[in-house]
Amino acid sequence: MALRSLFKGLNSFQKTALVTLGVTFLLIFIGGLVRATGAGLGCPDWPKCFGLWIPPTNVADLPEAYDPEQFNAFKTWMEYVNRLVGVLVGFLILLTFALSTRYLWRAPLVFLGAAVALLLVLFQGWLGGQVVRSGLQSGMITIHMVVAVLILNVLVWTWFQSVKDRVRYSFGGKSRRNLAAILVVLLIVVITQVVFGSQVREALEMVKTAYPGLDRSLWIDRVGSIDMIHRSFSWLVLASVLLFQYQALKAGGGTPLPFLAGLTTAATVLQILLGASLVYLGIPPAAQVFHLWIAAFMTAVPFFALLIVLRSRAGLSSGV
Ligand code: HEM
Repeated sequence: MALRSLFKGLNSFQKTALVTLGVTFLLIFIGGLVRATGAGLGCPDWPKCFGLWIPPTNVADLPEAYDPEQFNAFKTWMEYVNRLVGVLVGFLILLTFALSTRYLWRAPLVFLGAAVALLLVLFQGWLGGQVVRSGLQSGMITIHMVVAVLILNVLVWTWFQSVKDRVRYSFGGKSRRNLAAILVVLLIVVITQVVFGSQVREALEMVKTAYPGLDRSLWIDRVGSIDMIHRSFSWLVLASVLLFQYQALKAGGGTPLPFLAGLTTAATVLQILLGASLVYLGIPPAAQVFHLWIAAFMTAVPFFALLIVLRSRAGLSSGV
């Protein structure tokens, strides 16, 4: 496949940055799991958990200062694993940054990207504490999620800066311009949709708090117009994705664009099905987790495709 040349014979920086990207993506999944299972306050304090560095597995081992009613082993360990993977991502980004110093003079953008990722992850660590201290205020969770998606994309950009010299694809001049324009529009549309989705999520949290006894299948009816806006906007997302797919198939023989477009289309169709299951099946927690995760994926893949297009040459032939 045409993408292979970007992944062959990587140096230690490029491998570390890729692993960091993968673990960050995993962390977004775990974060979604914590949110959907309501485990966000599984550890009531920060950075310790029930005053300990390793929380108890049994209520009998809870320090005296804490109310046993507050303890739920599943939620505590779910949140604790989230924090551990968060710390792992922090260290991996630190390592990526340390290894990026070799690019300082040769390719300063690699170093810059790694430095931005490091700053963002430090901010994210601080924000995580604020989210817990705010008692999981939904606006704070949304910012936390947006920063996570930003870190993911900064890592994509940083890694790409280190392999961009391998990009030898070329598209006809018009195709290249069309692809770049479509991808910019697609990214704007997807990011707008992510913001709308987060508003739906926040509205749902408010309904949940305002009507404690209400069955979850009825929450969506009380969310208001943002739900309709989010649903309807999906058509625009789908149309932009299909346009990207069409243009990629037309222009991209011998390049990874048809593959990346196929991935984006498949993710979008799945996302719409998950969205429908959220609305019609009473917000199943599993669908919430995957809906959030795929949204992150739907930003990263077109962004990667855009970087490839911008780096490719305008010419008649295509190929690696
Ligand atoms: C097509 C692209 C779509 C994208 C990129 C997208 C993205 C998102 C995002 C980022 C959230 C916030 C998740 C969170 O903060 O945990 C969300 C929530 C939501 N979305 Fe979508 N969405 C899409 C389509 C749909 C469709 C078609 C529907 C319904 C038919 C839908 C229904 C919902 C509902 C009910 C929520 C709130 C439930 C929750 O996750 O807690 N979405 N969406």
